[in-house]
Amino acid sequence: MLEIKNLNKKFGDKVIFDQFNYTFNDNEVTAILGPSGGGKTTLLRMLAGLEKIDKATIIFNGKVFELENEFFDQNILGFVFQDFQLFPHKTVLENLILSPVQSQKVSKKNAIQKANELLARLDLADFGNVYPFSLSGGQKQRVALARAMMIDPEIIGYDEPTSALDSELRDQVADLILENRAFGTTQIVVTHDPEFAQKIADQILKVNLK
Ligand SMILES: Nc1ncnc2c1ncn2[C@@H]1O[C@H](COP(=O)(O)OP(=O)(O)O)[C@@H](O)[C@H]1O
Ligand SMILES: [Mg+2]
Repeated sequence: MLEIKNLNKKFGDKVIFDQFNYTFNDNEVTAILGPSGGGKTTLLRMLAGLEKIDKATIIFNGKVFELENEFFDQNILGFVFQDFQLFPHKTVLENLILSPVQSQKVSKKNAIQKANELLARLDLADFGNVYPFSLSGGQKQRVALARAMMIDPEIIGYDEPTSALDSELRDQVADLILENRAFGTTQIVVTHDPEFAQKIADQILKVNLK
């Protein structure tokens, strides 16, 4: 369980979150809905340790983190970026192993083994050595998911996972999310598509403009 208490975040004078509270339950899918600029991406980035938190108490599986002007860098959330953000000059396999090998000091051999397992699980076994440009949209989305899963995250966060996809692929993403749910993964999905949210989510969190 991931509890967020009294989270504050500003950019300059602009308040994005003011005493924000929310609890993400284990094994559930939470869809985050809300207007553009509401802070959805910022929330995911803070939970992924990519954006500083002004102030918050975060309780993860009973462990309490009191944060003040610092990053929540616990590596609990694997981030599937909007528009995939794969490195174009690196192969699929290189995209997957880059961060675990560079920042987490996983051996290259172990990272490659894990990457190949994930690629197989996501129907991408034959694509490790190709470059992202040669992949379809759905394949890129699955590579982005595999990359997020390389850190064995407790939670997977997706930023607008369907925004670059047509409706058939949208259904495939929904199936992937529901499949991960069946594995017991906690997931947070930012979307502006209420129908998609209804399809995948156990809980819906609405964020608003301040
Ligand atoms: N690094 C940043 N510096 C300054 N302002 C930012 C930064 N990132 C986001 N913002 C602002 O914070 C607000 C929330 O952004 P964001 O989290 O991307 O919203 P959403 O994903 O809901 O559209 C927006 O007004 C955006 O312009
Ligand atoms: Mg966003």
